[in-house]
Amino acid sequence: MRFGFIGTGTITQAVVSGMLRFGVPFERIALSPRNAQTAAELAARDGRISVCASNQAVLDSSDVVCLAVVPQIAADVLGDLTFDTRHHVISFMAGISLEQLRGLIRTDGAIARAVPLPAVAEGKGSTAICPADPIAKALFAPLGEAVEVDSEDKFDALSAVTATMASFYAVLEEQASWLVRQGLDYEDARAFLSGYCVGLAHDTTRTAQPFSAMVKHSMTPGGINEQVHNELSRRRAYALYGDALDGVLRRISGST
Ligand SMILES: NC(=O)c1ccc[n+]([C@@H]2O[C@H](COP(=O)([O-])OP(=O)(O)OC[C@H]3O[C@@H](n4cnc5c(N)ncnc54)[C@H](OP(=O)(O)O)[C@@H]3O)[C@@H](O)[C@H]2O)c1
Repeated sequence: MRFGFIGTGTITQAVVSGMLRFGVPFERIALSPRNAQTAAELAARDGRISVCASNQAVLDSSDVVCLAVVPQIAADVLGDLTFDTRHHVISFMAGISLEQLRGLIRTDGAIARAVPLPAVAEGKGSTAICPADPIAKALFAPLGEAVEVDSEDKFDALSAVTATMASFYAVLEEQASWLVRQGLDYEDARAFLSGYCVGLAHDTTRTAQPFSAMVKHSMTPGGINEQVHNELSRRRAYALYGDALDGVLRRISGST
């Protein structure tokens, strides 16, 4: 399959790196000329990857076209291009609906949206795909979890939960600071917590049981996990996530 990428920034670099590292099959990858440094670095890694002279040249030598420019310039960039019905378009661009995309590319070819996260480079990404799309699934499944949904409302909801990264790290920082207050060096606290949360995250991939079951299995009746969980539940700490995500979803779906 011949892939083309319009926009060779952070996310294209991560996706192409993941494709190479995890052996996603492809015949050729055509990259748009900007950003020149990242494009040249990717092309130097594999003889099947080349940097094209223009965005149109990317389209002309591709069947699957990934759109990875920032949404603010999408109309300008795509307005200059001629898509063909053979193009299978996968848009990574946040906030541009399938209907808007159809208007921008002006063809009847297949289109899908996907939100790959930078961890796809390490094979540890979670990628939301809408609608179900066998080509996008085959691209992203080897790079972590690839979850297909049948509506853009569900797709927006999955996009919303990616707003929890900073708060995830903030919880770890809170625990590290607490350990420092108990007399530990920050470096030791950080190393301990890093390994600890890798172990917990890994456990989620070894079972398909609901997270609620993992909560239950982590608690000995009357034990210290139960103590912390009960106190945080009583103080509504977890429920605050739902409240915050409601706000993010309103913003993503344009209702605020
Ligand atoms: N980063 C993420 O975690 C992430 C996750 C999921 C989806 N996305 C989406 O993916 C898209 C790209 O995000 P990103 O983080 O990769 O952004 P980025 O690092 O800013 O990359 C965008 C690239 O587009 C290039 N560009 C600018 N004008 C162009 C043009 N006329 N033609 C072709 N390329 C042009 C820029 O090149 P110059 O550097 O030369 O200006 C830049 O390197 C966005 O729509 C974003 O919503 C991002």
